[in-house]
Amino acid sequence: MSEDEQKPICDDHVIMGKRLAKRLRAQVKKEVEQLIENHGIAPKLVTVIVGEDEGSQMYVRMKRKACSEAGILSDHNDLPVKTTQTELLALIDQLNKDRTVHGILVQLPLPDHINEKTIIGAITPLKDVDGFSPTNIYNLFYGSEVLSSATPHGIVTILDHVGMKDLSGKHVVVVNRSMIVGKPLIFLLLNRNATVTVCHSRTADLANFTRQADVLITAIGRRKSEGAPFFITADMIKEDAVVIDVASPHGDVDFEHVKEKALCISPVPGGVGPMTIAMLLRNVLDAYSAQVAK
Ligand code: GUN
Repeated sequence: MSEDEQKPICDDHVIMGKRLAKRLRAQVKKEVEQLIENHGIAPKLVTVIVGEDEGSQMYVRMKRKACSEAGILSDHNDLPVKTTQTELLALIDQLNKDRTVHGILVQLPLPDHINEKTIIGAITPLKDVDGFSPTNIYNLFYGSEVLSSATPHGIVTILDHVGMKDLSGKHVVVVNRSMIVGKPLIFLLLNRNATVTVCHSRTADLANFTRQADVLITAIGRRKSEGAPFFITADMIKEDAVVIDVASPHGDVDFEHVKEKALCISPVPGGVGPMTIAMLLRNVLDAYSAQVAK
């Protein structure tokens, strides 16, 4: 085992998401090499962006670079903002049928004139590496976590590695109710026996809930105010809580002060972000295996 592989995931109260992601990506790379040797065809992800969103461009670049490093092929479709829903559906239909494509990722958000639910629902569940399609959400609902959403799956994988594999008796408070993070996360946490509370922008007295959390997971993603930018401050945390900050590019949590009180805390950057990418690679590999290595 290399020296790096022996280092703990929680180091001086800080969750080293990047370190864990690196190990998981190395494992994916190894499995990809083996599967290519067995089946003679490389896994391939196709990404789609509609419009000019800078964040989407950056995230997809990072996802494709990670694919390349893991031996996974990727193609990208950069579609103009005026692309119609019918045109996008035609592309998805073509990708669904293409046997050389194993994963399809339509980066969100989409422009307002395109119905996100219709697009996500059009991706064949076998290639839905985001885990957003109705079949994959339904599977998650019933306890199957194959092709589950990358960010929530990255979060529970972090918990697995900081001694929180079984969350029986633990109160987990999630501050987010989005389709990408909060909603799938609820089921992943319930599957691990957590008691789950979900807070959001209409929750009154947020601190009343966060102070009860054995595990606090937050993804607000906005600055609070100029002088006091953090939504989650040390006075809102229970002593020895595990704190997972999902917000990007700026964290929700006053890291320096909360670190003194928490059992462990994930930093931004270097916490959940790298885990999202690692879990996406795992999903591409699982999608490929289900289609090719039958
Ligand atoms: N936009 C922000 N996060 C995600 C994600 O995980 N998947 C997709 N497709 N779009 C996103």
